[in-house]
Amino acid sequence: MNDDEGDKGAHAKNQMWGGRFAEGPAAVMRDINASVDVDRRLWRQDLAGSRAHAQMLAAVGVITDADAAAILAGLDQIASEIEKGDFHFSADLEDVHMNVEARLIDIVGEPGRRLHTARSRNDQVATDFRMWTRGACAGAADALGALQAALLDQADAGADAVMPGYTHLQVAQPVTFGHHLLAYVEMFARDRGRFGDAAARMNDCPLGAAALAGTSFPIDRDMTAKALGFDGPARNSLDAVSSRDFAIEAMMAASLCATHISRLAEELVLWTSPHFGFVTLSDAFSTGSSIMPQKRNPDAAELCRAMPGRIAGAMTTLLTVMKGLPLAYAKDMQEDKAVTFAAFDALELALAAMTGMIRDLTINHGAMRAAAELGYSTATDLADWLVRVRGTPFRKAHEIVGAVVAAAERRGVTLDRLPLDEMQAIDASITEDVFSVLSVEASVASRTSFGGTAPDNVRKEIAAWRDRLNGEA
Ligand code: ARG
Repeated sequence: MNDDEGDKGAHAKNQMWGGRFAEGPAAVMRDINASVDVDRRLWRQDLAGSRAHAQMLAAVGVITDADAAAILAGLDQIASEIEKGDFHFSADLEDVHMNVEARLIDIVGEPGRRLHTARSRNDQVATDFRMWTRGACAGAADALGALQAALLDQADAGADAVMPGYTHLQVAQPVTFGHHLLAYVEMFARDRGRFGDAAARMNDCPLGAAALAGTSFPIDRDMTAKALGFDGPARNSLDAVSSRDFAIEAMMAASLCATHISRLAEELVLWTSPHFGFVTLSDAFSTGSSIMPQKRNPDAAELCRAMPGRIAGAMTTLLTVMKGLPLAYAKDMQEDKAVTFAAFDALELALAAMTGMIRDLTINHGAMRAAAELGYSTATDLADWLVRVRGTPFRKAHEIVGAVVAAAERRGVTLDRLPLDEMQAIDASITEDVFSVLSVEASVASRTSFGGTAPDNVRKEIAAWRDRLNGEA
């Protein structure tokens, strides 16, 4: 890239701001300064911002209607050139803003030179980037809705599929697969809420803050804010051009969301391993091994598990860039876009892959149920039975059941297959009725407390979630 590294004036003077310079920038100066390879992605927002600005300038009489019409026509032509791939983005023009403005001047001449009145790239980029980030938050929220819908379908299919519930990844109590998936529906709902909150908080329009101090022209900031879908104009010009907390907050929401995705991804990795065998991923979401013909690898799940690295890394990058920056704009802030784009690209990919994996997976009811029987998972049910039916204090019941588990362990049987007389040898008050609570099905069916794992609860929750999602869609 830097073939002529260090050459003074290796490039032509900047046509947009070169007036006070005798020479163009060194090649390396251009390379470190240019952001167009990254920020060209903001072209739609940049054109929208320029349209709104031109219309407002005409409405308040700073430019004529004829000038505004010429500018709008020129911007339309630029849009179609970019869409067709005919637009040449030049690093000599640094960024998307100056590329667009320079091309506008090429196309429409004099009126194009009036567009930058009462505006700076500082408020321009802040506006464009807020609009982009607002859209990214909306996109993430929609993608989360699709993931939730896929989870609900599988929760329905597994509403009474009994699986082991774990603490410490040790078998704890039986739960239903549906209930387990609904836990993620809850997490992803909070993630959606966080994207919504972030988008709402960032929805003040920086345009019109100009370089940092506002402008002497009689601009109408309410008009541009409204045209661009903002709630209103940002109230302090210095804050408007120098805050990037909106992008950091959006990436914080993305980081947390990626963390939730990674937990589900890790469960898929576990569940698809032959040791668990609880679910099978579709061929479309599995990969083979180049050496081991039998392999069926959950690569997408592993990559989803890894995704917080990229996303939280991007967030950390921007937090670190912003730390200690004095007001107002500084070029450091140009580093904001690459990481934010990368974070949301990664999140979009992870959400889509996770949605596909969930949508297509097959539940292996038998393997789940067999695993749920391991580890004396209904021991708490036995203790609860002693409390409820025999009036035994819970702490005492806990001790009795400990001895019953030890007896079952010696015999190598599950609790519901331990002969009654062996239980009675430990506690004489135990009766035949105890077997009604010792199966894994009985255990989950009994967990009817609000938020519990009983299949009836799960079905009600699925219905309630479907209503909520339809309302939000
Ligand atoms: N490309 C710049 C950025 O992304 C636009 C703002 C430049 N402003 C300036 N005063 N140099 O931050």
